[in-house]
Amino acid sequence: MQEINIPTHIAFIMDGNGRWAKRRLMPRKYGHKMGVEALKRVIAACDKLGVKEVSFYALSTENWSRPKDEIDALLGMIKKFADEEMKDYVDKNYRVRFMGELHRLPEETQKALKSIAAAAMNNTGIVVNIGINYGGRDEIARAAARVAERNLPVTAENIDAYLDTAGMHDPDIIVRCAGEKRLSNFMLWQSAYSEFVFVDDFWPDFGEETVLRIIREYSGRERRFGGLK
Ligand code: IPE
Ligand code: IPE
Ligand code: MG
Repeated sequence: MQEINIPTHIAFIMDGNGRWAKRRLMPRKYGHKMGVEALKRVIAACDKLGVKEVSFYALSTENWSRPKDEIDALLGMIKKFADEEMKDYVDKNYRVRFMGELHRLPEETQKALKSIAAAAMNNTGIVVNIGINYGGRDEIARAAARVAERNLPVTAENIDAYLDTAGMHDPDIIVRCAGEKRLSNFMLWQSAYSEFVFVDDFWPDFGEETVLRIIREYSGRERRFGGLK
């Protein structure tokens, strides 16, 4: 039997909510709503399997070009997720952090995100990292600016230390779903040696079985990090 190698960090580009809903003749918003349920299932599955860190792409710096009612619905769901999960996160021992420029979000969304991060602050379990108004290029530029502001040498180590993911492991796996095969500005710096796994499933269909399938595929990969085997 194939040996299963549990990754430390899996990063998910949650995609296909709109198409999932369209197939059911439902509004895109319904797809996002079911996407939040998938997010909860995937976090629980990763935690159960022993994954230490998980990252999710919830809203990109480019997604603001979508119609206002879709953006409002997404922001509303992000706030609701933070409000509702807060109590659970304390019980479940999940840690939580965010990446992206949060100060561009509505005040009440920022407040909800800060509250859940504070409530989970002393937890010791899986790290749940969510990208909201996140763009990889923006993140690298902000980190470089902070390095320059502090008159530090502009080295890869110093940039790394000022990224939104400072202190986290680089993702072992980047998952792109819904049949797409691109990063869409997600974790550009951190994905230098990540294994890419592409699945056709739409995000709202994700659950433990999908996570297991992804980990099995990853387990069969040989990573060399530029060295020789
Ligand atoms: C992913 O689903 C969620 C976000 C980008 C917020 P989409 O909304 O991109 O769904 P599709 O790709 O249009 O099906
Ligand atoms: C990527 O999905 C962004 C998020 C998952 C938040 P998109 O649906 O926005 O990406 P493109 O436009 O297909 O590249
Ligand atoms: Mg999409």
